[in-house]
Amino acid sequence: MRVVIANAKGGVGKTTTAVMLAFAMKTRLLEATVLDADPQASATLWASLASEAGTPLPFDVVPANLVTLGHKSPEGELELVDCPPSGRTFDKAVSSADFVIVPSSESSTDLQQSWATLEAIPEGVPAAILLCRAEERTRAYREAVNALTTLKSPRFDTVIPKSQYLKNAFGHVPDKLAGYGEVLSELLEALVKAGIR
Ligand SMILES: Nc1ncnc2c1ncn2[C@@H]1O[C@H](COP(=O)(O)OP(=O)(O)OP(=O)(O)O)[C@@H](O)[C@H]1O
Ligand SMILES: [Mg+2]
Repeated sequence: MRVVIANAKGGVGKTTTAVMLAFAMKTRLLEATVLDADPQASATLWASLASEAGTPLPFDVVPANLVTLGHKSPEGELELVDCPPSGRTFDKAVSSADFVIVPSSESSTDLQQSWATLEAIPEGVPAAILLCRAEERTRAYREAVNALTTLKSPRFDTVIPKSQYLKNAFGHVPDKLAGYGEVLSELLEALVKAGIR
């Protein structure tokens, strides 16, 4: 199975979501690999910092490109692709996806880009917006949820709150799921519903 984490907008939580979902898989004794398709290589850097500190991430993070994304994902394993914002690798990743997660903040500019990203995903590939770094008590958050509901945008019920823990997680082995356990449950359910799992 291949789950691609994509958004045309940068800094929305793609790398954090890829790594945290792989960690959530590990806590359930399920196999996951992060495919780092972003030339910025943030997921790869996260893994090397953790290794250099003597505490490697408990799953593989491997570089991915147009060629490797052309390979079918291995049976029984979840590949989580940290996707670049646009270009041929983006197109290849989303067209090979069993599911696309579009992380987004509640800001209206991020939401516009998230809707544009949903439109760039080929017909028939299931996809949903995941609100990340959310500040649930703000007006912007309520407006975002209203807009998503009004437009019937597919989205995860789970929302990842803005947290100091996730902000500082880069380069370390996570020691809590910070909402991503629930995201994984929703994702696995959606894959079953779509007849993929
Ligand atoms: N829930 C959260 N709460 C607070 N900070 C967060 C949260 N999720 C991610 N961050 C922080 O926000 C920044 C952007 O997150 P991340 O690197 O995961 O986004 P990205 O979409 O991969 O960015 P890029 O476009 O640069 O690849 C990082 O500094 C990260 O630590
Ligand atoms: Mg990134």
